[in-house]
Amino acid sequence: MTITIAALGCSGSVAAHIIHGFLNLEEDVTIRILARNPSVVEQRYSQHKNVEVIQGSMSDPDSVARAVEKADAAFLITPMGMNNDPSSEIAIAEKNLQGAVRGNVRHLIYASVLRCDDGGAANATGVGILDAKVSIEEMIASSGLDYSILRCGSYMEDVFDPRLNMLKMGAFLFPIDRRQTFSYTAQSDISKFIAQELVSNGPLNGCIDFVEPGVYSIAQVEEALSSAAGFRIRTTPKMPIFYIFKALLPIFGWMQHRFSSVIPLMEYFDAFGYTGNSKSLSTKYPTFTMKSLDDHLKELFLTNNQVAKKQN
Ligand SMILES: NC(=O)c1ccc[n+]([C@@H]2O[C@H](COP(=O)([O-])OP(=O)(O)OC[C@H]3O[C@@H](n4cnc5c(N)ncnc54)[C@H](OP(=O)(O)O)[C@@H]3O)[C@@H](O)[C@H]2O)c1
Repeated sequence: MTITIAALGCSGSVAAHIIHGFLNLEEDVTIRILARNPSVVEQRYSQHKNVEVIQGSMSDPDSVARAVEKADAAFLITPMGMNNDPSSEIAIAEKNLQGAVRGNVRHLIYASVLRCDDGGAANATGVGILDAKVSIEEMIASSGLDYSILRCGSYMEDVFDPRLNMLKMGAFLFPIDRRQTFSYTAQSDISKFIAQELVSNGPLNGCIDFVEPGVYSIAQVEEALSSAAGFRIRTTPKMPIFYIFKALLPIFGWMQHRFSSVIPLMEYFDAFGYTGNSKSLSTKYPTFTMKSLDDHLKELFLTNNQVAKKQN
């Protein structure tokens, strides 16, 4: 069976792991990516015949409608706003929903965040990246569309892979309170789950925490990293880096840099951690196995060592 999935907000680097996840599946999946600048995306996936690129903007409902037309499902990621302001992310989501309705999308799948059900938008966290998703979930629920919302943990590929060079020097940059705990999600599992469960076996129609079963303290993350690397890796202490980042916030804000929204999230992590509950997922989808943090980290170091050996 061939599945076509329209990918909205998926032309950037955060979504690349999810797109590659789709392309590496055994299922025959065609991915239709909406992008304002198609040539960049076409070049990134030039090796793959199963990628179609539609020129257009996710801020334009007509472009979105063209992208979702006759697809089996649409997968939506919303771009975070700068300066901790949720409004641009919410506005873009609104345009996507208008387009999805106009294009008669069969099923909309949204990548959201954990803790969205703690009182809804009325109980805002003050963190733009999180609060935007709470409002967007509410908009999706009242859109009349068939939908699934995957509330994801910290993305393994996003948190660890870009920091490999520093990890190899024995340091993991995560300067927050060591007592906090975290849940993780492999981005490649999102693609696997959508293709195998949501599209092939029937949609979820609702929200689910999409996290691997473990809940990790900083000490446990250090243990997993050290075991995968074969040498000791320590997390950077909160003092002084956390406070340096906080002091730099106005500069990041002035630069319209993504850290202007990431630093408030770091403060939230420092105060509350970021954990979900994998129980509903394992009860509802007993045959679906999430990739564990241990497996991801082992693969990360193994692949990298193999590449290094080949180069020598
Ligand atoms: N759970 C985690 O650990 C984790 C980690 C990182 C990110 N995230 C989440 O992942 C999502 C995406 O991250 P990001 O914002 O960094 O991704 P991004 O790659 O910067 O943006 C995603 C896409 O949005 C489109 N876009 C951006 N601004 C736009 C605009 N003004 N008008 C129209 N299209 C626009 C771009 O498409 P084109 O330019 O190609 O049209 C881009 O490909 C966010 O919701 C973020 O919170 C989660």
